[in-house]
Amino acid sequence: AKKGAFMYKHPVLLQIELFARAFHSGDASGHDWHHIRRVRGLALYIAEKEEKGDRFIIEASALLHDIPDVKLNADNQKGAKKLKAFLNSLPLAEYQKEQIQNIVASISFKGGNETELLHFEAMAVRDADRLDAIGAIGIARAFAYGGKKGQPLYDPELPVRKQMTEEEYRNGKTSSIHHFYEKLLLLKDRLYTETAKKLAEERHYFMEQFLQEFFKEWNVER
Ligand code: ADP
Ligand code: NI
Repeated sequence: AKKGAFMYKHPVLLQIELFARAFHSGDASGHDWHHIRRVRGLALYIAEKEEKGDRFIIEASALLHDIPDVKLNADNQKGAKKLKAFLNSLPLAEYQKEQIQNIVASISFKGGNETELLHFEAMAVRDADRLDAIGAIGIARAFAYGGKKGQPLYDPELPVRKQMTEEEYRNGKTSSIHHFYEKLLLLKDRLYTETAKKLAEERHYFMEQFLQEFFKEWNVER
């Protein structure tokens, strides 16, 4: 629809949005409400451009994609339960709840040990989440996350890890600059949709420029 034109919004989506806003408010690790808002926007943009997918499922999954995130919950079980309980409180069909849960469970990077996706709705949401991890926003989020975790900006002594288990990725020693080589620079080749691949080009280039400048300034002459 045209911008500004009246757009009908499924009341359940408004309910989901309120829940996500409340859950993510006040986060300082890069998983605040605005991350969720951008992922929703990007996922819907991808669906629109590709002319594919169930928009309701895409929007709902984007809004809920970080609810069970281990980083935002006491433990893995708790997050999954929270999502399930919330979905069960909504007037949705069983198959819709299942679809949303499956998509949300399939989004995460897991240190490169992520699952292959089969459904367009999941691809749109995962691509959107990854686009928000790269570019200028991605850079800002990496340092916000690193600061919150107490990891250094950069540590030249640390090795750059190539193959990691999910556990090593989550809890291993790293720096925010290392994170670019462990994840952020790899993302452009792990996208599914043509629309996201196109958007990723500029964002990827911007990160390369940033790193070049960073090392130039890091290697101060004397
Ligand atoms: P996903 O949400 O796909 O599981 P992550 O949890 O790895 O992805 O990342 C969520 C956000 O936090 C991303 O912006 C990511 O770049 C950032 N992030 C994750 N781990 C680190 C880290 N060790 N250092 C800096 N940023 C990180
Ligand atoms: Ni996310």
